[in-house]
Amino acid sequence: MPEGKILVVDDDSLIKDFLKESLSRQNHQVDLASSGDEALEKIRGTEYDIILSDIRMPKMSGMELLKAAGRFSPDAKIMLMTAYGTIDNAVEAMKLGAFDYITKPFSADDIALKIKKALAYKKLEWENRLLRSEIAGKYRFKNVVGKSPQMKKIFEQVEIVADSRSSVLITGESGTGKELIAKAIHYNSPRKEQPFIAINCAALPEGLIESELFGHERGAFTGAIRTTRGKFEQAAGGTLLLDEISEIPSSLQAKLLRVLQEKEFEKVGSDKSIQVDVRIISTSNQDLNELVEKGKFREDLFYRLNVIPIHIPPLRERREDIIPLSEHFLKKFNTDNSRSVEGISEEVFQMFMEYFWPGNVRELENFIERAVVTSKGKVLLPEDFPKGVFLEKGLNKIDVGNSLDDMEKSLILKTLESCGGNKTKAAGILGISTRTLRNKLSEYGIKRE
Ligand SMILES: Nc1ncnc2c1ncn2[C@@H]1O[C@H](COP(=O)(O)OP(=O)(O)OP(=O)(O)O)[C@@H](O)[C@H]1O
Ligand SMILES: [Mg+2]
Repeated sequence: MPEGKILVVDDDSLIKDFLKESLSRQNHQVDLASSGDEALEKIRGTEYDIILSDIRMPKMSGMELLKAAGRFSPDAKIMLMTAYGTIDNAVEAMKLGAFDYITKPFSADDIALKIKKALAYKKLEWENRLLRSEIAGKYRFKNVVGKSPQMKKIFEQVEIVADSRSSVLITGESGTGKELIAKAIHYNSPRKEQPFIAINCAALPEGLIESELFGHERGAFTGAIRTTRGKFEQAAGGTLLLDEISEIPSSLQAKLLRVLQEKEFEKVGSDKSIQVDVRIISTSNQDLNELVEKGKFREDLFYRLNVIPIHIPPLRERREDIIPLSEHFLKKFNTDNSRSVEGISEEVFQMFMEYFWPGNVRELENFIERAVVTSKGKVLLPEDFPKGVFLEKGLNKIDVGNSLDDMEKSLILKTLESCGGNKTKAAGILGISTRTLRNKLSEYGIKRE
């Protein structure tokens, strides 16, 4: 195995012979070219680690070769040799993307050292890329669990849409895995090496969202002490996740629409347009169609965001996923907490299979995490899980031995179940406000607020 594949480009045959000799002795594989044209020919056919080129040659100069090589062989490190070792030449070469330069005359040791450095750097780059693709692999379905026909269909959709830059709208109840699917799309797309940036539209006060999205110019408003880059700029070339898009204030809907249509925007307090290439994925746990009908969400924006719709059904509608998910989380939390719980009992699975799962996969994940951390045995048993939650079956009997809290929890969950998860309806039956209901659910750790 050669150390590195090197192309030497020079019209001076003395230099070529010298380099061929000395670099071959270092166990590199060396090819020679006498002109820029000949070099390009070779670059098209072979992948070089390093291109070592003279700056001054007849016809095509080293600088021109540098530019052209960047197109055909973006991974090769280019090193220029110059007999006119002026700083100007070197600076210009580096600006154009040269990795390094060396001034003639040089010794065999000089060049050996520089080549070694460039190869080490290339290796590092390669390892970095590998590492990144490992992170990407995390979302390459291995960690997205699902055996149900509904999830299998979603995996197919993800694979198909990943290649395009069309906007995707992912809908589903809280905790169904919308963000996870958004990441799976990004990390399976050609943009995977570029940033994945998320913004939660529900978590920011109205006044802040605009500058978060688009950035602001220094002095645009009180407290804007420096110019900032917004999420759109940060996500350039990659994917921007607009989480909980239904919460975006109406004042911003028009601005967002414009970015989607024209692919450009201005920072707050600036009138200079910035061009961006960003793929948009948005999520919502609300029915955007309904919001459009009520006039709360712009119809034109909805259509722009909803080019490709992906709906993730609630966990209770795909019960085949419960056991594989449970096992997946068991493994994960064993590893995370250095525990060695071996399994989950049959009774627990039975409870799981009958439960309503208002908090969906997140709720299941939380249950398993807590159980793995607190359990004393080798297998997770019903007593390792919160009592009230799985009590609903016995509710009709009203046994002594349950606390009021447990009964309340159980009544709420059962009512919610009978309303198919509709919180407004359930709150009506229970005689409490939807807000109170939401608060109670989040108290039980069922819904993330
Ligand atoms: N199919 C799945 N396989 C593995 N883990 C999953 C799956 N679906 C969801 N999860 C896990 O469940 C948790 C909740 O998922 P996620 O945050 O993507 O949900 P969400 O739909 O965005 O929720 P919310 O609407 O509350 O923001 C995450 O920890 C996620 O990793
Ligand atoms: Mg989310």
